[in-house]
Amino acid sequence: MTKLGRNDACWCGSGIKYKNCHESFDSKIDFYHRQGAIVPSRDIIKTPAQIEGIRRSAKVNIAVLDYVGEHIGAGITTEEIDRWVSEQTAKYGAVPAPLNYEGFPKSVCTSVNHEVCHGIPSPDVVLKEGDIINVDCSTILDGYFSDSSRMFCIGEVSEEKKRLVDITEQSLQVGLSQVKPWGFLGDMGQAINDFAKKNGYSVVREIGGHGVGLEFHEEPWVSFVSRRGTEMVMAPGMVFTIEPMINMGKARIVTDKKNGWTVYTADGKPSAQWEIQVLITETGYEILAY
Ligand code: MF3
Ligand code: CO
Repeated sequence: MTKLGRNDACWCGSGIKYKNCHESFDSKIDFYHRQGAIVPSRDIIKTPAQIEGIRRSAKVNIAVLDYVGEHIGAGITTEEIDRWVSEQTAKYGAVPAPLNYEGFPKSVCTSVNHEVCHGIPSPDVVLKEGDIINVDCSTILDGYFSDSSRMFCIGEVSEEKKRLVDITEQSLQVGLSQVKPWGFLGDMGQAINDFAKKNGYSVVREIGGHGVGLEFHEEPWVSFVSRRGTEMVMAPGMVFTIEPMINMGKARIVTDKKNGWTVYTADGKPSAQWEIQVLITETGYEILAY
């Protein structure tokens, strides 16, 4: 790291003198680093201008998911959801991030019932009463990335599926209660895992959240089965997702061999996921996308 003078312009690009900008931030990072903690590198700390860009992208992501929520129902195909996402995102001058991402063929992920994540929209998948579905939207606006997902219940769903969807949504609040500057990501991960287990569910281990903003997937990788006091320190200016996948049965998952994308529960039981994108602030957090 370059040694900056206190009166030099801050490394973050704010144009403000270092002593009035990130100097105390750097000494806190040094403190945690010396204790052996994992600390964020400077390139994942967002500047105010970048945060504003990410916030605008997130507003589009929220609007697209709102549109999906207003139109989804029995008889709709997941291909139609893909078309809505594509059209609505374009309407705002933005681009869906999943399209062509590492070869992903569609603009949104749609994961039904025992599909855990990365379901591929298809004209052959017709939503029917009793289904639960995760719609995972990600947007690029002016080069800034946002990412969030919601569950939708199609018509009347069984009590046990409804409870899975509700507990998974509540797990976000449980996790958020641990999200604060200079806490550990593991504080959040353990809170979510404990809550899911207490409710008789299991949390997917292999797939987690991620930093997001200047790219689709950035450091850190975010686990929801981690332990208190471990994983990266949360510092102001970090932006990442909280997106636990919670299974009604066992945690084990399998990936579709034919399409290489869709992840299913190994035991065939339902899975739910909600995803929000959060910014760590000086005093707490801000939910950018939901
Ligand atoms: N939105 C997913 C996530 O939370 C992205 C999946 S990659 C895709 O990370 F290509 F399938 F979209
Ligand atoms: Co994500």
